Amino acid sequence: MSRKRMIYEGKAKILYEGPEPGTLVQYFKDDATAFNAEKKAILDGKGVLNNRISEFMMTRLTSIGVPNHFIRRLNMREQLIREVEIIPIEVVVRNVAAGSMSTRLGVEEGEQLPRSIVEFYYKKDELGDPIVTEEHITAFNWATTQELDDMISMALRVNDFMSGLFAAVGIRLIDFKVEFGRLYEGDMVRTILADEISPDSCRLWDIESGEKLDKDRFRRDLGGVTEAYAEVARRLGIIKESQQGAEILDFNGAPK
Ligand code: TMP
Ligand code: ASP
Repeated sequence: MSRKRMIYEGKAKILYEGPEPGTLVQYFKDDATAFNAEKKAILDGKGVLNNRISEFMMTRLTSIGVPNHFIRRLNMREQLIREVEIIPIEVVVRNVAAGSMSTRLGVEEGEQLPRSIVEFYYKKDELGDPIVTEEHITAFNWATTQELDDMISMALRVNDFMSGLFAAVGIRLIDFKVEFGRLYEGDMVRTILADEISPDSCRLWDIESGEKLDKDRFRRDLGGVTEAYAEVARRLGIIKESQQGAEILDFNGAPK
């Protein structure tokens, strides 16, 4: 797996040089971090599950016309992606108050928002990814107004699509974070969805019980993190009902 040249190592993923120009291999690690990497753990099997869940989401988003970096899954932990220049903005869409919004604004966790709210965070570890406005983004040239418009409209489409997809399997999409990149094609540049979509980057609550099925289980020491991710994969039909524990780490076949 380390035969290829490493391009970048992040907290949960590694990017390697791809087999053709303009491609990269995205490797999903089992590492989990929270609070700007102050809290760390290795969660056996998380990378395998996130690789599959992100593949599932990106493939379906492609089919509804949301352009993204995913090309194909290579193996349990790796996927082939298009190389993009990551725009240094995390776009968060919220449907229900939770997390930092509840802390910052004093809105109780679980309160349905009057409409979906889009927020922007500047990707800068040294600063702890501060929340920023569109004014900051364009004034400091982190993204152009065109790119901002593209990011907002794609993020809202992802929200509508994923809200329905998860609702159909008894899961409430509370909020999520997405990242975008610049795809250079000749002298053209396009904004496409990049990074990953997984329970690391979404808040997912069971509709009936309110049980958390996402990374908040790690952030808040609730336990059962990978079990919750496996439950998400099971409900989406990515892994079989019967698959448990170590068996999940062994699977490498097509869905179902
Ligand atoms: P927040 O409530 O902590 O701001 O998180 C909003 C959403 O963004 C939530 O679904 C978790 C996700 N998220 C990330 O994917 N990466 C991060 O570094 C943070 C802080 C949040
Ligand atoms: N991934 C982020 C970090 O380590 C934070 C988070 O997801 O809560 O720092």
